[in-house]
Amino acid sequence: MGALVSVLPCPCLPPPDPSIRFARGDDDPDAIARVWYESYQASHAHLVDPMVMRHRDLDSFKMRVRVRLANKVPTLLAVDGHGVCVGLAVLNPKEAEVEQLFVRRTGHGIGSRLLRAAEQELVRYGIRHSHLCCVAGNTPAFGFYERHGWKKQARLIEYMADTGNGGVVKVLCVRYDKELSESPARRRNLQDM
Ligand SMILES: CC(C)(COP(=O)(O)OP(=O)(O)OC[C@H]1O[C@@H](n2cnc3c(N)ncnc32)[C@H](O)[C@@H]1OP(=O)(O)O)[C@@H](O)C(=O)NCCC(=O)NCCS
Repeated sequence: MGALVSVLPCPCLPPPDPSIRFARGDDDPDAIARVWYESYQASHAHLVDPMVMRHRDLDSFKMRVRVRLANKVPTLLAVDGHGVCVGLAVLNPKEAEVEQLFVRRTGHGIGSRLLRAAEQELVRYGIRHSHLCCVAGNTPAFGFYERHGWKKQARLIEYMADTGNGGVVKVLCVRYDKELSESPARRRNLQDM
């Protein structure tokens, strides 16, 4: 009798790294929204006015994702071995901007891979000078971007955020800029990054 070969992954092995790919029409927008919403709540509740936080509930993120996907806004997803979204990066090529970057579990290298993929995708659009905005006080994210070569600008940016009852409040953001360069990985398939 032949040896019995187990086809199940050993439970002591770490799960395989998520792959990075563009969001597609058959992706579940609500699953993407949940990652964005939960990561936003966990990282911004102490930074943003409570009325804005309440207004930005899960349903509002579901709507944001649906609108972006319907408008084919380039959105990179980190997807685990079960096809579940564990992170997203939303690009705004017209503004040369990395518009959003959120991961479900921080500190596992997923944000770094999404950010590298986002930068390389902006280069593909012919963009050499990119920027992003980060809510004032989000120091963990500041450190992350600075380690990835993004340069903090001195002048703060203000934008007005809806509170849902017809009101708006001012939110202060820090702008980061980066000169993008074409890396060898750009010539590879995004799945390989
Ligand atoms: C900011 C954010 C996107 C970064 O993504 P991330 O996946 O946590 O970042 P990474 O894991 O790639 O890097 C963070 C740290 O994890 C470490 N790390 C990288 N790969 C790792 C791995 N495989 N295992 C454990 N740690 C790892 C990195 O060295 C880095 O450490 P450092 O901060 O001491 O340099 C993420 O923390 C996040 O979603 N934050 C909340 C939302 C937010 O603030 N978004 C930004 C809005 S502007």
